[in-house]
Amino acid sequence: MTRPAGAGAPSIDSARAAALGVMPRAYAPYSQFRVGAALVGTDGRIFTGCNVENSAHPAGICAERSALAAAVAAGVTEFAMLVIASEADEPTPPCGMCRQALVEFAPALPITSCTSRGGEATWTLATLLPHPFTPAALTHHQ
Ligand code: THU
Repeated sequence: MTRPAGAGAPSIDSARAAALGVMPRAYAPYSQFRVGAALVGTDGRIFTGCNVENSAHPAGICAERSALAAAVAAGVTEFAMLVIASEADEPTPPCGMCRQALVEFAPALPITSCTSRGGEATWTLATLLPHPFTPAALTHHQ
C-alpha cells in the first residue's frame, strides 16, 4: 500500500504509476500476460495487485482481485477508482469475474486501463457490468 503525496485526493497519475509499477511482479509463466492493478480507496490510499498464475490453472488469480483482497485486508472497502496496467496492444477491461468481485463494493467504480505503450481507456463498472448481481439480490421472503 502506498499513500500518495497530499493523501485524500485520489490521483490518476499516482494510481497509473502504481499499476505500471506492480505489473512486472506478476507471476504469469503460463500466459505470459502480466497485469498490474491499483485500487484507490476513497481515503486516497492505493492498493496494488498482480496476476498470480498456477500450474493448476483455475487456481490463478487476476490482478484486480488481488488488489481488492489487499484493500479489504487493510480495512478499506470504499473505492474511488481502479487502474489496470498490461502489456496488451489495446487497454483491456477487467474480466467478468473481477467485475462481479468489484461490484460488491463499488457499483459505479471508474476503471482506467493503460498499456505499457501509453494506450489508455476509461469505463465505469456500471457500463461494463449492467444488471449486476448485488447483495440486494439475496433478499427473499419465506
Ligand atoms: N488477467 C488479469 O489479471 N486481469 C484481467 O483483467 C484479465 C486477465 C490475468 C489472468 C491470467 O493470469 C492472465 O491475465 C491471462 O488471462
